[in-house]
Amino acid sequence: MTEPLSSSGLPKAELHVHIEGAAPPELVRELAERNGVDVSGIFAEDGSYDWADFTQFLAAYDSASRVFRSPQDYARLAETYLRSIAQEGAIYAELTVSPDHAAASGLSYADYVGGLAEGIGRARAATGIEARMIAVGVRHFGARAVEQVATQVVSHPHPLVTGFGLAGDETEGHPANFARAFRMAAEAGLGLTAHAGETAGAESVMAALDFLQVSRIGHGVRAIEDTVVVERLVRDGIVLEVCPGSNLALGIYGALRFHPVNLLRRAGCRITLNSDDPPFFGTTLAREYESCARTFGWSREQSLDITRTAVAAAFCDEDTRGRLLRVVAEADAKASDPA
Ligand code: ADE
Ligand code: ZN
Repeated sequence: MTEPLSSSGLPKAELHVHIEGAAPPELVRELAERNGVDVSGIFAEDGSYDWADFTQFLAAYDSASRVFRSPQDYARLAETYLRSIAQEGAIYAELTVSPDHAAASGLSYADYVGGLAEGIGRARAATGIEARMIAVGVRHFGARAVEQVATQVVSHPHPLVTGFGLAGDETEGHPANFARAFRMAAEAGLGLTAHAGETAGAESVMAALDFLQVSRIGHGVRAIEDTVVVERLVRDGIVLEVCPGSNLALGIYGALRFHPVNLLRRAGCRITLNSDDPPFFGTTLAREYESCARTFGWSREQSLDITRTAVAAAFCDEDTRGRLLRVVAEADAKASDPA
């Protein structure tokens, strides 16, 4: 019997979504008007985000993020996003947060994280969804800027900020430049992840593993270009935060059937599915699950494995992990015994 495609009934978990990149265009327009911020040029005629390549995408993302000016604005953003994915069946999400973007909007790290935490709490109260934050440095802002983010995170610990990472343009700066920032974060007990193997090749994945002590890689899909790198990922149990819709939108692969997510999974890599910057890339978390299940013929059990991998690799406490795993097990049991 053909398994049903993933639906809101299938528990999902997301480890890689940039909170500013998750802002619905309508919310950005509303706050731009209210806060008097010019966002001309970032929208197409139909109201969606407009950009043509990776550089333009990053510029549109920077502009959209400027409309969030207060802790309340960020609370609304986090609550809006988390409620929307809870509706799609998400039980857990890690929001990638960028203190540099908050600073450009005139907000302190404490106000930024406090506002987001307020929104996380409201979404949890309304839907039961759990969430944590991963604070990232932006690599094209340079090693000093990334170290400053690490310093802020370490010196203002927040219970919901449980990870540290590196985003931005992968072609800028070798990972060795960021090793010190990652060491500081590791010493503070934060989970570690870095973007690699998205716009840069397999060697960028190897370098992130060699220099940054990460347990997860953001994207990492271009590891497929070198079997030695794939073997290293498998050997070390590194979890890939795969974002297929993002890779298609940015032109890294021409169609989902040519995307290496299934090859990597079959080679033994630990795979999760994520939306990255969903409204920028015309995707949602549920669409990622559904399109992969449809394209690669994944069963419901295989889709549940994606969620189990995400929960196993989540930067959360063990009580939360246990509770989330029980939710997945219950959904699994219910599907095998619908009576
Ligand atoms: N920041 C936001 N989205 C990103 C992406 N897809 N890659 C690198 N940095 C980002
Ligand atoms: Zn990303």
